Amino acid sequence: MGARRILGRLVSGGGGREHAIIRKIKESPDCGTVYCAPGNGGIASDAICVPEVKATDIEGAVKLAQEKKVDFVIVAPDDPLVAGMVDAMERAGIPAFGPNKAAAIIEGSKAFSKDLMKKYGIPTAKYEIFTQADPAIAYVRAQNEYPTVIKADGLALGKGVIIAKDEAEAITAITDMLEGNKFGASGSRIVIEQYLSGPEVSVLALTDGNIMRPLVSAMDHKRALDGDEGLNTGGMGTIAPNPAFTEEVAEKAMQRIFLPTMQAMNKEGRTFRGCLFFGLMVVAGEPYVIEYNCRFGDPEAQVVLPLLEGDLLRAMVATAKGELASVPLGRKAGSAACVVMASGGYPVAYESGKEISGLDAQGQAKGATVYHAGTKQLDGRFYTAGGRVLGVTNRGSDLNDALDQAYAAVKSISFEKAHYRHDIGRKAGGKYGH
Ligand code: AMP
Ligand code: GLY
Repeated sequence: MGARRILGRLVSGGGGREHAIIRKIKESPDCGTVYCAPGNGGIASDAICVPEVKATDIEGAVKLAQEKKVDFVIVAPDDPLVAGMVDAMERAGIPAFGPNKAAAIIEGSKAFSKDLMKKYGIPTAKYEIFTQADPAIAYVRAQNEYPTVIKADGLALGKGVIIAKDEAEAITAITDMLEGNKFGASGSRIVIEQYLSGPEVSVLALTDGNIMRPLVSAMDHKRALDGDEGLNTGGMGTIAPNPAFTEEVAEKAMQRIFLPTMQAMNKEGRTFRGCLFFGLMVVAGEPYVIEYNCRFGDPEAQVVLPLLEGDLLRAMVATAKGELASVPLGRKAGSAACVVMASGGYPVAYESGKEISGLDAQGQAKGATVYHAGTKQLDGRFYTAGGRVLGVTNRGSDLNDALDQAYAAVKSISFEKAHYRHDIGRKAGGKYGH
């Protein structure tokens, strides 16, 4: 009898979300060796990083998985999912977690997702789709309701949504996208939708097309500066659970949104297996879908996964097989908070290569879990290598306890021009930022 082969796992991606996924799957007795492509300086303490294989390099990832005899692949970011990395893995006979290309369109095309919601009666803001500027401008003039929301159809690094506060801004956004090629092909089709107002909630749900398992709700902080000022970013911090997602709202969301979305995708022949992210807005107690993402959120995963009780790796393997119901999952007590430390200037221009002080040899800080988003490791030291650098995270007995520990750790870490928000969790009743 030959020696039992050590199982190999490959995670595609290289940010804070991937770091959080890797640390969680490493709790599993099934985990084995973890590779991460490309990974980053901090992930290198938990996995074997392959920086040459970028997250969007489908061919490179398949080759790497074959060379390393990987048994299971987790595709974490949107671009490779929308481009069909899971399909490519399956063609090569390697099981993978994440939706196939046909299902990832739920994030890849806002026009698709809006039409899906309309067809199946899933609550969302009223909208129209345009490919020509003149009828789009005529539509906003006829609506004459401001603010109005203008969205590029395709992936645009979270920057394809413009909230226009008057007609002039709306016309600029429409012409920039449809005639000025502002978001390239992603903006050659646009959605114009009604502006909704209310607290936003992120819900990440595991689904295999048979059952829907929502994980603890979270709140993102998308704007760069305190008080929700400044530009939209990939996310400057998160807390979980989100108090706006009450039991009553959760029940409405399950019946009107989560299950109907799963069934709608099944009926369309696009069964979704993976993590479906519902970006919700609660308007006068009623949940609406603002957007779908076909993956774990970043930095939502950084607070949702530490509160997950159970074996994430087994749940992911079961999801890919359509057997999610067989894996028990629960929720840990308390709250989690993640404060993102970013490079000064992010999300516009920023410098990289600044040495980070306050981290130990593993890239961790005392009293917190540090998920690395954009770092490099050189001779045992860590340097900044991206806009979002670190997600300093903690789980506490309640929100303020989680925030206390996360902010204490943030204060012990420094790099030149480090920038973070001082009011994470404030809208959820947290004491910081007052
Ligand atoms: P998205 O990229 O679709 O998540 O949109 C980015 C942000 O724009 C959301 O998090 C909301 O804050 C805002 N947004 C998007 N759609 C609407 C809408 N219909 N009404 C109000 N705000 C919106
Ligand atoms: N934090 C929002 C996202 O991952 O898209």
